[in-house]
Amino acid sequence: MIITIDGPAGSGKSTVARCLAERLGLRFLDTGAMYRAIALAVIRTGKSLNDAATIAQVAQLAQIRFQGNQLLLNECDVTSEIRAPEVSSGASLVAAIPEVRYQLVRLQQEIGREGSMVTEGRDQGTVVFPDAEHKYFLTASLDARANRRLDELSRKGIPGSFEEVREQIRLRDERDEQRELAPMKPASDAVLVDTSHLPVEDVVQLLMRQIQT
Ligand code: DC
Repeated sequence: MIITIDGPAGSGKSTVARCLAERLGLRFLDTGAMYRAIALAVIRTGKSLNDAATIAQVAQLAQIRFQGNQLLLNECDVTSEIRAPEVSSGASLVAAIPEVRYQLVRLQQEIGREGSMVTEGRDQGTVVFPDAEHKYFLTASLDARANRRLDELSRKGIPGSFEEVREQIRLRDERDEQRELAPMKPASDAVLVDTSHLPVEDVVQLLMRQIQT
């Protein structure tokens, strides 16, 4: 069984997907982390995040794999590093490059063939797993999402202001929604859930009830 959870940054999809996977005893796939790893690989080379040809080359050489909750880039643990704000913006730039998407979509589908899982991202229900048994699209107001991201950053000791974080998310949404290939959008058969005023536990319960009926 494949369960897809798509949605914008800060909609709660990662937390919900991880929790759901744990309770249902399924694997969890964080596809955003894969785009982040490619962005980090590009940043490390010092090359521009606007140079599509170079990014495609870097992506081709990058080896990405999960080991438990860790993400390995060329066999090195980059789990924390990929959460830095510059990697977040970089990820949405590399995610618009067709070669990068083809490569990561193939890898995601390979992981999906190994068995049941909960997978989260932007295009999981639309492009990567169009035949998934359960599809969700989580949304929340921009302010609610910016506040969540700010809390997350402050827990990690990363400084940031509400306005700055809100603007970064807004720009990222715009890029993710407007790119030509696999733009962020709900699948026509996805269930939409607005999490602006819902605690994580309520969202998890809602999804669990639907999946188990
Ligand atoms: O979910 P996230 O914030 O970790 O994702 C980082 C970026 O990667 C996001 O701005 C858009 C991109 N992304 C994507 O295009 N497709 C996915 N399936 C997952 C993420």
